[in-house]
Amino acid sequence: MRDTPAMTTLPAAPPPSFLQARRLRRIFALEDLEEAARRLLPRPIFGYVAGAAETNATLADNRRVFDEIQFLPRMLVNVTGRRLDCEVMGLPYAMPFGIAPMGVSSLTGYRGDISLARSARRAGIPMIISAASLVRLEEIAEAAPGVWFQAYLSGNQAEAAAMADRAAAAGIETFVVTADSAVVPSRENNLRTGYRTPIRPNAALFWNGMTHPAWSMGTFLRTFLRHGTPHFENAGPGRGAPLLSRQAVRDFSGRESLDWAVVHHLRKRWRGRLVVKGLLHPKDVALAREAGVDGVILSNHGGRQLDGAISPMRVLPAAMDQARGIEIMIDCGFRRGTDILKALGLGAKFVFIGRPFNYASAIAGEAGVDHAIGLLRAQLLADLGMMGLLNLREMTEELLYLDNFRALKAG
Ligand SMILES: Cc1cc2nc3c(=O)[nH]c(=O)nc-3n(C[C@H](O)[C@H](O)[C@H](O)COP(=O)(O)O)c2cc1C
Repeated sequence: MRDTPAMTTLPAAPPPSFLQARRLRRIFALEDLEEAARRLLPRPIFGYVAGAAETNATLADNRRVFDEIQFLPRMLVNVTGRRLDCEVMGLPYAMPFGIAPMGVSSLTGYRGDISLARSARRAGIPMIISAASLVRLEEIAEAAPGVWFQAYLSGNQAEAAAMADRAAAAGIETFVVTADSAVVPSRENNLRTGYRTPIRPNAALFWNGMTHPAWSMGTFLRTFLRHGTPHFENAGPGRGAPLLSRQAVRDFSGRESLDWAVVHHLRKRWRGRLVVKGLLHPKDVALAREAGVDGVILSNHGGRQLDGAISPMRVLPAAMDQARGIEIMIDCGFRRGTDILKALGLGAKFVFIGRPFNYASAIAGEAGVDHAIGLLRAQLLADLGMMGLLNLREMTEELLYLDNFRALKAG
């Protein structure tokens, strides 16, 4: 096994402030982060992260599916010296999970993208920079080499190539194309909680700021005073629109023309690892393989796009049948070590997690993200031992009870 990305190349996270440390004392599992973030963040901002599309049916099923799978653990195995290291697309990592791309993470936590990237790097796991982030991808890649980059593309192949060139010039080696976001979804839940893009200063926003001073001072004002108006920095080859401008909406619309031709074009152009994120249909996994990608991330975007879309866990067995050499990764609803082991048992190579890390960076910056990663590491190590396993490769379908699992049948 090669070395995992060096944990020693980054200094320790800045120690948490008194308030941050106090918040972290009550975080015993990733689920606890949501309540802490709800208290800290203004309602529209929290609602934007926590929310999903339309009736939240997909969001709910993303969690429910894990209860349909049980473990059949083995006993009386000597499990001293357990290891969590793994490899995906030839890249060695310390643990089988990473941080999913999340737009505007620097609106919830101060320079959130950098906290997420640095904590991930320190722990030896990947973090994916979002196309909708407010910090330049070059700056994040410099702060935490090894980050992946996720792009929102249209059918314009020249623009896709220019975006890939920009990422390559920044030292990015893994390029992720999100496939499920070509159309703007119905997120009426965001409207109900008062979140709109562009964000427009109004009385409600002012009131929210006054009633959430820790966020207003620690994230919002600090960002404006130190770095000026945040812009969508990575939406395209050049700098995107400011967060508060009408143009911001246009930057993320008009992507309906995205199709497989763009992926084929990128494959010819991009020398690094190419990943498509947001696939659910097994036939699309086959098309991705034919396009020459290195891996796919099965995802319904955390329930934020098509309400009623199937949970990626239900698709996983059928997707595995189509993988034939490409790596199958997955996200949506993963919160515990046991969730991760269930996905690995069904054949997934790697898992990504979104919202909890966003909350962690909001409530305690880099120290918060370190804490969240540490909790998952501890759970995984304990779970592996209770399963009677020494390493992740031993986690197979034979150790899962699947009679209650409503999986999509291959075909
Ligand atoms: C606030 C927020 C912003 C997101 N922004 C992006 C994005 O810019 N690009 C993308 O591919 N996925 C985006 N996602 C989806 C995540 O990458 C991931 O698929 C999803 O959050 C996984 O589900 P989980 O939050 O239940 O772990 C976003 C998710 C959230 C919660």
